[in-house]
Amino acid sequence: PLVSMTEMLKKAKAEHYAVGQFNINNLEYTQAILQAAEAEKSPVILGVSEGAGRYIGGFKTVVKMVEGLMEDYNITVPVAIHLDHGSSFDKCKQAIDAGFTSVMIDASHHSFEENVEITSKVVEYAHSKGVSVEAELGTVGGQEDDVVADGVIYADPKECEELVKRTGIDCLAPALGSVHGPYKGEPNLGFKEMEEIGNATGMPLVLHGGTGIPTKDIQRSISLGTAKINVNTENQISSTKTVREVLAADPNVYDPRKYLGPARETIKETVIGKMREFGSSQKA
Ligand code: G3H
Ligand code: ZN
Repeated sequence: PLVSMTEMLKKAKAEHYAVGQFNINNLEYTQAILQAAEAEKSPVILGVSEGAGRYIGGFKTVVKMVEGLMEDYNITVPVAIHLDHGSSFDKCKQAIDAGFTSVMIDASHHSFEENVEITSKVVEYAHSKGVSVEAELGTVGGQEDDVVADGVIYADPKECEELVKRTGIDCLAPALGSVHGPYKGEPNLGFKEMEEIGNATGMPLVLHGGTGIPTKDIQRSISLGTAKINVNTENQISSTKTVREVLAADPNVYDPRKYLGPARETIKETVIGKMREFGSSQKA
């Protein structure tokens, strides 16, 4: 069923695993991720960036596409449709009104007081519709669609505690050294802060920039209260590699199903691997 993230993440935190947020870029991504979740009996979060929402046609198209696939595929595991890095109250409201079950309001580039104010407004509207809310503090490095950072700023544990108390959010993404897109070298995650923030807030924590984080760091993050891990780039890299291989092997291919079908299979395999790594398999 389509659900918010709230119960999914509470259970994940209590049972020490993480639910994957896998970003959808088109129909094939959505098919692959839903199939992987059902095959693994895993809860799943479909991440939709504002850019991906535009690409697909709009938030309403996203919701109807997901609903249609869930019916045709007989999906029984919990699925959330989540706005990734929502840039304003209006964008969050648009997603909620279109039928998203969860939103992230990313007001992390605003001042702390403004972040609290915007996030509170989103929480009030979202909760009145049964929709869950993720907020961010600090800066995730790298770039994802419209979200560009020119540095990495670690979240401040005191501010995290205050933001959670004053806004009533359902999960928190404290930026602690993670990066959107591939890492240059090994990531340097702030585990000390992660532990402090997890303990002080009691919130399920979210780890952005899940691509390229070594398994030992994933496991340590989960042990410190991380209950949601976002992955996008890894599926893009693995599926594009498949497209290149198919086209290179046969220059006469022109039917899109001949290269997008295998790319979809690659995404499914990549997602299944992540679900096992995050421990969410068989938890639905
Ligand atoms: O919000 C989405 C994620 O943080 C994705 O990060 O593309 O590095 O896996 P990634
Ligand atoms: Zn992110």
